[in-house]
Amino acid sequence: MTMRVLVTGHEGYVGSVMAPMLAEAGYDVVGLDTGFYAECTLVPDRVRVPVIRKDLRDVEARDLDGFDAVIHLGALSNDPIGNLNPAWTEEINFTASVRLAELAKAAGVRRFLFSSSCIMYGMSEAAVVNEVSPLDPKTEYARSKVQAERAIAALADETFSPTFLRNGTIYGLSPRMRFDTVLNNLTGSAAATGRVVLHSNGEPWRPVIHVRDVSRAFLHVLQAPIEAIHSQAFNNGANDMNHQIRELAEVVVATVPGARLECLASADADQRTYRTDFSKFARTFPDFRFRWTIRDGAQELFEAFRAIGLTAEDFVDRRFTRLTWLRHLLDTGRLNHSLRWQAQGALHS
Ligand SMILES: NC(=O)c1ccc[n+]([C@@H]2O[C@H](COP(=O)([O-])OP(=O)(O)OC[C@H]3O[C@@H](n4cnc5c(N)ncnc54)[C@H](O)[C@@H]3O)[C@@H](O)[C@H]2O)c1
Repeated sequence: MTMRVLVTGHEGYVGSVMAPMLAEAGYDVVGLDTGFYAECTLVPDRVRVPVIRKDLRDVEARDLDGFDAVIHLGALSNDPIGNLNPAWTEEINFTASVRLAELAKAAGVRRFLFSSSCIMYGMSEAAVVNEVSPLDPKTEYARSKVQAERAIAALADETFSPTFLRNGTIYGLSPRMRFDTVLNNLTGSAAATGRVVLHSNGEPWRPVIHVRDVSRAFLHVLQAPIEAIHSQAFNNGANDMNHQIRELAEVVVATVPGARLECLASADADQRTYRTDFSKFARTFPDFRFRWTIRDGAQELFEAFRAIGLTAEDFVDRRFTRLTWLRHLLDTGRLNHSLRWQAQGALHS
């Protein structure tokens, strides 16, 4: 029987790649999204899935009826938005996420896949962090993910199996493109302006993962035997997906003809560094292979940007930086003080 999957945040950067992939793989997919970034499209969507147009904070029991699984991507998705108003990040990423999981459990939804983040390890003293390393969330965003994981894990029982996939920084082409993540930013800048700007000395390490590999990994976990994934956290990726920022920049320079590297290392630059151990994922899912390298990813991005003629204006356009776009919606009165649409504010497709 076809598995029915609710994907929250399906109109975001990851969701607008993952939801079509699930639909094409034969799942019966329904999305739930308030549409914050509905107008922030860089390349057209290939497939649209049916949508429940709703704020996560307003989800009701009946929204969960009839689903076999929930993939929960919906969130305020970075640190800068957390700084804009910490209460919104706590409400949406923590309180509403836990409520969604409670409603899912009550509705008999068996699997709940939560899109988490390696950022929760903070600036670990350990050179390499795995799933049992101490969590050290330094920001509201990171704290919201830790709190949500803990509270949702506490709901696990023989009827409800949550799984936490902790992603590194995601890159790659998506209809709802983001230029505020590292490899997308470096490649976009190179393609649009010919410059690749490093704000640190480039030494910090980051785990990075392609958006299609993220989606494939979620799909794999959706199909995995329950006993392998029940109430488990996984760093989502492979050990060769840790890179120094400088290496990312060098790959971009090698990919984009004429691009040049500029180092603006300043004293207050972000020097946070960590490497992530992904062996639990490899051990648990020995048949799964991550397919994308940073070279292939940078090449894919460059070709897409060339095909659409990405300009310097497009690259800095507020639609492709999450914080700037939300600020714009607030400044123009389309979102109100609780980060909800004003009547008439939403321009829903
Ligand atoms: N992009 C990354 O590098 C990255 C890394 C680690 C983890 N993650 C996590 O993966 C998930 C997806 O990230 P993304 O990059 O696609 O983020 P995104 O900001 O592009 O998309 C998030 C989606 O959630 C929706 N949303 C936000 N608040 C909502 C609310 N209150 N009600 C209904 N819908 C709401 C937005 O409209 C948007 O479509 C997030 O949970 C994020 O924290 C992302």
